[in-house]
Amino acid sequence: MRTLKDFDFENKKTLVRCDFNVGIDDKGKITDDFRIIKSVPTIKYLLEKKAIVILMSHLEKKEKLVSLKVVAERLENILGQKVKFVQSCVGSAALKETRKLKPGEIALLENLRFEKGEKANDEKFAKELAQLGEVYVDEAFACSHRAHASIVGVPKFLPSYAGLLMESEVANLSRILKNPEHPFIVIVGGTKVETKIKTILNISRLADHILFGSKIGEIILIQKQIMLGRDLRVKEKMVEKIDLTNPKIHLPVDGVMALKDLSEGYLRKAAIGAIRIEEEVYDIGPETVKVFKEIIKTAKTIFFNGPMGMFENHEFINGTKEILGAIAKNRGAFKVAGGGETIEAINKFGVAENFDFLSTGGGAMLEFLSGDELPGVEALK
Ligand code: 3PG
Repeated sequence: MRTLKDFDFENKKTLVRCDFNVGIDDKGKITDDFRIIKSVPTIKYLLEKKAIVILMSHLEKKEKLVSLKVVAERLENILGQKVKFVQSCVGSAALKETRKLKPGEIALLENLRFEKGEKANDEKFAKELAQLGEVYVDEAFACSHRAHASIVGVPKFLPSYAGLLMESEVANLSRILKNPEHPFIVIVGGTKVETKIKTILNISRLADHILFGSKIGEIILIQKQIMLGRDLRVKEKMVEKIDLTNPKIHLPVDGVMALKDLSEGYLRKAAIGAIRIEEEVYDIGPETVKVFKEIIKTAKTIFFNGPMGMFENHEFINGTKEILGAIAKNRGAFKVAGGGETIEAINKFGVAENFDFLSTGGGAMLEFLSGDELPGVEALK
C-alpha cells in the first residue's frame, strides 16, 4: 500500500474518501464524532503540505441519507479553519466550487450516496468524481468492505494513497491476525450475531481463549441446547460450526435476568440453567465476570468486540464495566477494540486511553478479521 509519505501533495487537488458516517440524533445533531476526530491527522497533514483538500463521504441514519453539512460544521470547529461545504459531489457546480480552493484550503462534498452511481460502482460516476482531483487518498477504512465508486472506482483514474488512519487500521488489525502474542484472548458480545460468526471462526484458530457474552453467548447456549425450553426465531447455521468441546470456548455460566418487557422491580441473578421461561438474560452474571477476569489477567493480546450486556440500562452495566476494567488493568497486553456500541461502552466507562488501538470499523473490521480481502484495501495495492 502506498502511503502519504510517498507523494508530494503541494498544490495538488487531493480527493480524500473519509468515513464520516457518524452517529446523529433525531434532530440531526452529531452524537458521536469519533470517526471525524480519527480523520483529523490526515487532513492536518495534507493541509500542512499545502494540498487542496477535497473531502467526500456518505452519511446515513437508519437507512435514510442525511446531508453532510452537519459534518462540515463539526469539522470546522475541530480544525479551527473554514470547511467549505459543496452542495453536490459531482457536476459543474462541484467542479466550479472546488476549483476556487487554494492550497491549504478544504472542502467537503455532499453525501456521495445521493448519487445512484456511488453504490452501483458506476464507472462514469467514478470518473466524474476523479475529475475533481489530481490524487486520491483513502481514509475510509470503515467503508472498505464496500465496492463503491468512491472506494474502488476512483483509484482506477487517480494515483492512490492510504491515509494515516487507513494505514494504522490495516497495521494494527494485521498484527492481531498475523502475529498475536500469546495468550491471545478474544472477547465477543453484542447483538449482531450473524455478522460476527465468520470472524470468530477465523480468529479462533489463533486465539487461546474466546469469551462470549450478551446475545451472542445466549444464542450459542440456546442453539447448543444448554439453555433449554427456548426457541430461536432464526437458527444461525454458522453457530453449528462452533465446537463447544473446544476448551478455548467460554460461555456465560450465569446472568442477570429480567422480564422480557423489562418491567421494573424484577431483577434476578441466576445460573444459566436456572433461567425461568418468562425471563431474558440482560447481562453476564457475577460468576461469569469472575471467570472471565481471571482469563483476561493472563492475556498478552486482547481483542474486544461487543458489550457483555445491555449496558445502556444501569441495571445491566456491571458485566461490561467489569470486563472493560479488567482489560484496562492488564497493562502488558496489546489491546484492540472496535465497533459502534463497543466504542460507546469504552467511552462510557472511561477506558479509551487504556487501549492500544480503537478501530473505526464495524463491519469492515469484522470482515478484515474474518480473513476476507477488503475491496477498499485491495484497490490501494
Ligand atoms: C459503517 O458505518 O459501518 C460504514 O460507514 C459503512 O456503512 P454502510 O453499512 O451503510 O455501508
